[in-house]
Amino acid sequence: MQDLLISKVQDESRQGEAFAPFLNDPSVYRKKFYIESYGCQMNFADSEIVASILNNSGFGATRNAEEADLVFLNTCSIREKAEQTVRKRLTEFRKAKQARPGLLVGVLGCMAERLKSKFLEEEKLVDIVVGPDAYRSLPGLIEEAEGGQKAVNVLLSREETYADIAPVRLDSNGVSAFVSIMRGCNNMCSFCVVPFTRGRERSRDAFSIVQECEALFNDGFKEVTLLGQNVDSYYFSGDNAETVTFAMLLEMVAKISPGLRVRFSTSHPKDITDDVLHTMEKYENICKYIHLPVQSGSSRILQLMNRTYTREWYMAKINRIREILPGCGISSDIIAGFCTETEEDHQDTLSIMQYSGYDLSYMFFYSERPGTLAQRRYKDDIPEAVKKRRLQEIVDLQNALSKQSNQKDLGKTFQVLIEGDSKKSDQDWMGRTSHNKVIVFPKHNYSLKKGDYAMVTVNDCTKATLLGEVQNN
Ligand code: 5AD
Ligand code: SF4
Repeated sequence: MQDLLISKVQDESRQGEAFAPFLNDPSVYRKKFYIESYGCQMNFADSEIVASILNNSGFGATRNAEEADLVFLNTCSIREKAEQTVRKRLTEFRKAKQARPGLLVGVLGCMAERLKSKFLEEEKLVDIVVGPDAYRSLPGLIEEAEGGQKAVNVLLSREETYADIAPVRLDSNGVSAFVSIMRGCNNMCSFCVVPFTRGRERSRDAFSIVQECEALFNDGFKEVTLLGQNVDSYYFSGDNAETVTFAMLLEMVAKISPGLRVRFSTSHPKDITDDVLHTMEKYENICKYIHLPVQSGSSRILQLMNRTYTREWYMAKINRIREILPGCGISSDIIAGFCTETEEDHQDTLSIMQYSGYDLSYMFFYSERPGTLAQRRYKDDIPEAVKKRRLQEIVDLQNALSKQSNQKDLGKTFQVLIEGDSKKSDQDWMGRTSHNKVIVFPKHNYSLKKGDYAMVTVNDCTKATLLGEVQNN
């Protein structure tokens, strides 16, 4: 069984995906690189920054690893399974290196710091190791590696936000783009390795964010997702002591154009404010969807997880969202089998899911990560079989909740942003509603195209997808 189970295929479906070739004119670019990304949306956004830095130093991207001079894996450490996948892939590339001795292999991202000596010295798996705050040093490190040295930079920074780097949109649908607004995390949830792999939280210059979103809109993009580990604690203070909170930033981006949809992820329940909810209410183009990870429904477990809220506090936050934003989509992350979790705690998780009525959840069983507070303080004492059984119960409940939520949408009409052909048929469009539901509907012979908005009435559904018909045309 996988350690990751999701009720809807979303960004996880892109795991390990290679990126499209672009700007690949050999007369301009001296070498080719290939990059594979694993993990969260943040990592995918980082790969676009890496691509920009590499482009500027004479490297062009390729989708085909076999023709690449440089292969990069942008890695994830969040669960053991993610690390195993990357290791397997590195072993494959080590074999490729035997056939092509000039090939350089690099590890980027969250696994870099933790495993640098292992990768470089013990296992001789890679030539270059670069942490998430050191991508500017990549061109220099590549040169070192070309000269036969092992090249490493895993220094974390308190300032780096790559604010001035215009990401190269990789494998984009041309409609929606991720925009990173902050880096790192200060929260120290006890199960989580992110504060160690990505460092301290810092917010990116608000004006560079707005500029990037404007440029995207001018290039024809219709949707931006503002990304951070904890977007609600975004706080930027400029040179003239002006401060920008997340609610203010949302408003600044929403004002670019009513034709540009704005999304954001991830929200920590302790930090999302009424200000943010009211800003969402005020602007129709701010999508009515909040990813609000609960992790567990038991106050005792939440305390051990260092989440800094209780079950009741979380439920009150759900009430507030429902009050200010009726119909808002809400999704969650849930961990089954955290240290000491009893059947009663597990039942609390099931009941809070029911209470919150999640449209979608990302569900995991607990995976102990070296160096985290939980690993140092608590025993990983829930047997694997119990973790898996509880996870399955969580997944089954989420499937039922997703189906119920979709059934509630039957007969309703939504504004849908068309993202492209549906996966199953080029006779159908696939798009998303403001509350982040995927909807599929026949193209007929209407003159709609990718990136258009359409009013679509829902006439059927599965647990994962709404089906509909275009209303006006
Ligand atoms: N084990 C299982 N799941 C984890 N997550 C983070 N760390 C772990 C871990 N050690 C999950 C959390 C988080 C999501 C991104 O990954 O639910 O919100
Ligand atoms: Fe990890 Fe918690 Fe930070 Fe999310 S908020 S990245 S779970 S420490």
